[in-house]
Amino acid sequence: MHTPTRFPWKDEYTVGNEFIDSQHRTLLELSDLLHVAVNAGQGYRIIQNAYAALVKYTQEHFQAEERFWGSAKSKSAEQHRAVHRTIAAELADLRQEGEFGVVFCTPNELSNWVEHRLIAHFIEEDQNAYRTLPRPGRKAKG
Ligand SMILES: [Fe+2]
Ligand SMILES: [Fe+2]
Repeated sequence: MHTPTRFPWKDEYTVGNEFIDSQHRTLLELSDLLHVAVNAGQGYRIIQNAYAALVKYTQEHFQAEERFWGSAKSKSAEQHRAVHRTIAAELADLRQEGEFGVVFCTPNELSNWVEHRLIAHFIEEDQNAYRTLPRPGRKAKG
């Protein structure tokens, strides 16, 4: 059975490198699981697990990608790291620990982060960094 997803993969997201693209697909799948949980008003444990999985994989992806840009000699590697840090900090802000316990983002806040930060990063900085690599760098593995 095909379940419609909130953040489906689109060809226009492709960076052109299989290693990066497959990690980006996984990020969207994990974002989707979190969106389903938040949208359905699931209990704390289910949302927390989905959120933790997205945070962990985002960190892993950013680290892997930073190694990739470094070894491929991307000129924007330093700036790129800074963008990753900002996006990760914004993801961290989607979960707030307050006086009365933990509060997670609304489905809209999550969609905003996924669409305007995560996906926007795929199609702006990630595509641009890949497009402007020195030629031999394009073959580098993560
Ligand atoms: Fe990326
Ligand atoms: Fe990136």
